Amino acid sequence: MKQRERTAEKYGPQADRWSEEAYADSDAYLAHRAELVVSLGPKLAAGDTVVDLACGDGGLARFLPDYGYLGVDASPEMVEAGRRGGREVVLGDLNDYVPPEPVAATTCFRAIYYARDRAAFFRHVSEYTQRKLVFDLNPRQYRLEDIREELRIAGFAGLELLPFFAPQRVSLPAPAVAALHALERSGPLARLLLTVRFSYLCAAFRGGKNS
Ligand SMILES: C[S@@+](CC[C@H](N)C(=O)[O-])C[C@H]1O[C@@H](n2cnc3c(N)ncnc32)[C@H](O)[C@@H]1O
Repeated sequence: MKQRERTAEKYGPQADRWSEEAYADSDAYLAHRAELVVSLGPKLAAGDTVVDLACGDGGLARFLPDYGYLGVDASPEMVEAGRRGGREVVLGDLNDYVPPEPVAATTCFRAIYYARDRAAFFRHVSEYTQRKLVFDLNPRQYRLEDIREELRIAGFAGLELLPFFAPQRVSLPAPAVAALHALERSGPLARLLLTVRFSYLCAAFRGGKNS
């Protein structure tokens, strides 16, 4: 079975209620992700466009109301679900998709492993991304030095990392969520937690952080 068919088979049946069911508290999870899409690395300005690769049903769009949003997904059912939800979502493969115009930011969440050749993927995204590429990365699965070097070769010399402590499968009371978010900036303690759970959010950018 080809990769495209495997993707359709795996994600098609989940498309109808993806955002609601993939996250125990999807509003809290996606709001925190969106906040970091804007603020990590060079800040986005209102009106900037974000291309969200492997976007699922495009649930992130709701939390980026001040920005242009274009979702891309390889599953026709996910694309349909996104459109039914009023989002702009197109069918495409993150490995070769090119947006109609260059965009300020490209994002890719829980899907970097769908890049056939990660270094080539970074180079491809770099061709149409003007400011930053934001994605999540499990440091127990990937070596940060490899990623940093591939990004540098692709033209993204800057890389800002932040531990992303938003629980996916459990819904916590607001004070616990706030404490976890505070822990993201705790340095050694956060890095210790990353050795057993959670991921980094990475913003790769060209030029200086303030350019
Ligand atoms: C784990 S889900 C993540 C969805 C969304 N980004 C999120 O974080 O909720 C992975 C998504 O990647 C999509 N996908 C898999 N391979 C892809 C590819 N080559 N190009 C574009 N999308 C792909 C799937 O259809 C699915 O919607």
